[in-house]
Amino acid sequence: TADSAETLQITRTCPYAPPEQHLRFLREQPVTKVALPKGSEAWVAARYEDIRTILSDPRFTADRRHPNAPRLNGETGPGESPLPKMMLEMDPPEHGQARRAVIGEFTVRRMAALRPRIQQIVDEHLDAMLAGPRPVDLVRALALPVPSLVICELLGVPYEEHDFFQTHSAQLLNRTITPQERQHASLELAIYLDKLIRAKEEDPTDDLLGRQVIKQRENGGVDHGALLSLAFLLLIAGHETTANMISLGTYMLLRHPDALAALREDPGKTAGAVEELLRHFTIAEFAMMRVALEDVELGGTVIPAGEGVLMLANAGNRDPEVFADADTFDIERDARSHLAFGFGPHQCLGQSLARVELEIVFNTLFRRIPGLRLAVPAEQLEFKDDATVYGIHELPVTW
Ligand code: HEM
Repeated sequence: TADSAETLQITRTCPYAPPEQHLRFLREQPVTKVALPKGSEAWVAARYEDIRTILSDPRFTADRRHPNAPRLNGETGPGESPLPKMMLEMDPPEHGQARRAVIGEFTVRRMAALRPRIQQIVDEHLDAMLAGPRPVDLVRALALPVPSLVICELLGVPYEEHDFFQTHSAQLLNRTITPQERQHASLELAIYLDKLIRAKEEDPTDDLLGRQVIKQRENGGVDHGALLSLAFLLLIAGHETTANMISLGTYMLLRHPDALAALREDPGKTAGAVEELLRHFTIAEFAMMRVALEDVELGGTVIPAGEGVLMLANAGNRDPEVFADADTFDIERDARSHLAFGFGPHQCLGQSLARVELEIVFNTLFRRIPGLRLAVPAEQLEFKDDATVYGIHELPVTW
């Protein structure tokens, strides 16, 4: 019964594995009700197939402002947002319209065309790193600035102000700040973007946001609110996610010298290694939540209408039905069907960009700094157990 629901563990005991509790749910209670650590309750789904079903079933809404959307950060209710709905929170047909308006900016072809510029950005940051003092924090020197600069250039947001939005994106994903502080951070970011978009509406620049202005004008009029929500979502999603995968991936490869040697010998293997790293860490699992709009039965358990569900996608990515020997980090396996980017209509819009960035970063970093190693004992690293998106706070390296 609800009274006896066990509390969901949301911090990892082992940095490279889901909490033992989630793996037990996967084995024994694939769909189960839990108490959330900061109050209220939700369902969790741990099996790969169930997660795919929920993420692609229209009987679930993606609306995070639903009163019963699972709340992990101590909010007492849906709260006030300064923003109109983001595509992440929309259902069909509204969602499809919002996504189609921008999908052309994220095709595999468009991303491939960005490669030379991304390579240049990575090289410039490595030049600076090599010319500077050692040890250096790889998060500040490479992992955060590369995706940050890339998303700023793509959107047309001036990178000079990166301190401002890097701090604000990190805050929005931090679980240790109060709901009021989070709301404040989100309001400040919204005010900043509001001004920026107004300028682009006056004088559309040749970047994603400027092109959206022109396209909307051709279609009858500019929807300022839609542009604001889009800019907000892309700026947040484009920052911390890829940055955390760069630092975690570097760390993981440094810990697995055989894998690293295989990549050095054949850089063609990096794309596969990136998929395995994404599967292994599943950093954004707590971004995936839904609310049932009707009673939905999954493997004999009914999630009642109106109740929230969290996808334990890190456990789902270790489902033995799908991934043999799932706990083993194996860059040679075919991990492409993992759930790290979600599944169904909301599957990550920026996944091709993230893949290109990760591949270029790992290939270039280990080629240019073959002697790269950790500058502190691994036990001293602080992992982001306090954030919605998993990662490492600092990664001191030397060579
Ligand atoms: C959606 C993960 C990078 C933009 C998602 C979702 C996940 C995810 C799990 C689905 C959420 C859900 O179903 O509710 C990741 C990971 C990344 C990454 C692990 C890096 C390794 C990026 C980047 C961008 C981006 C670089 C932007 C350039 C988005 C957007 C959505 C989304 C716009 C919402 C799509 C929709 O609602 O239709 N991401 N993401 N992501 N992601 Fe990413």
